[in-house]
Amino acid sequence: MARKKIIAGNWKMNKTPSEAVALVEELKPLVANEDVDVVFCVPAIDIVPVVEAAKGTNIQVGAENMYFEESGAYTGEISPPNMLVDAGVKYVVLGHSERREYFGETNEDVNKKILKAFEHGITPIMCCGETLQQREQGVTMDFIRQQVKVGFQGVTADQAKTAVIAYEPIWAIGTGKTATTEQAEEVCAGIRACIAEVYDEATAEAIRIQYGGSVNAATAPELFAQADIDGGLVGGASLKADFGKIVNYK
Ligand code: 13P
Repeated sequence: MARKKIIAGNWKMNKTPSEAVALVEELKPLVANEDVDVVFCVPAIDIVPVVEAAKGTNIQVGAENMYFEESGAYTGEISPPNMLVDAGVKYVVLGHSERREYFGETNEDVNKKILKAFEHGITPIMCCGETLQQREQGVTMDFIRQQVKVGFQGVTADQAKTAVIAYEPIWAIGTGKTATTEQAEEVCAGIRACIAEVYDEATAEAIRIQYGGSVNAATAPELFAQADIDGGLVGGASLKADFGKIVNYK
């Protein structure tokens, strides 16, 4: 069975609540494509107004992070069941390289969050990806396999089948330097092989693997045509009309 493409925007720390609603209004008609899953991952404070603005459209809403506890004395954190689910969130980006780099998130933290997301029916979009130095040292796949294996510890095959993994080479994020189609496909295929080893072929065939890192309307068509690339996680270009072109890449 062919995997449905999933094209997600990661707004990062951009857009106030009122700007967020205006952006949804602008993009609504441009991203109306039922052939792909369209997800807007937005800052926590924008979730409620964006869910409201996206009602009746094909846009699904995701969070950019969450905590692995359900409630309590964790000042500043967001609870998956009590807050995200109640607000109508379907997806959550976990382990983005920016969270790993600036906020010290480890593979173990990411693993706890993935388990908690599944527990509450939120689909994790787990990010992985190497630095330029790691690529030059030839350890890209070793590094990513570790991120994937630790991130998915304790996740069942049935859960893994519904998960999304985003391969985002750190050197390609926000740099305007998209990985070549060959580089992106090679790693996405490697991630799928890793899932097949940890689980089985059926799980590897079902899981969706995105590419992220300077995706734009020009590079999306070739990237998304690759056998192992099931869509994209888009930063900068998800904040403008270009995102409509990316969603309608065919
Ligand atoms: P850019 O598309 O801005 O490079 O960001 C990619 C990214 O980090 C998405 O999560």
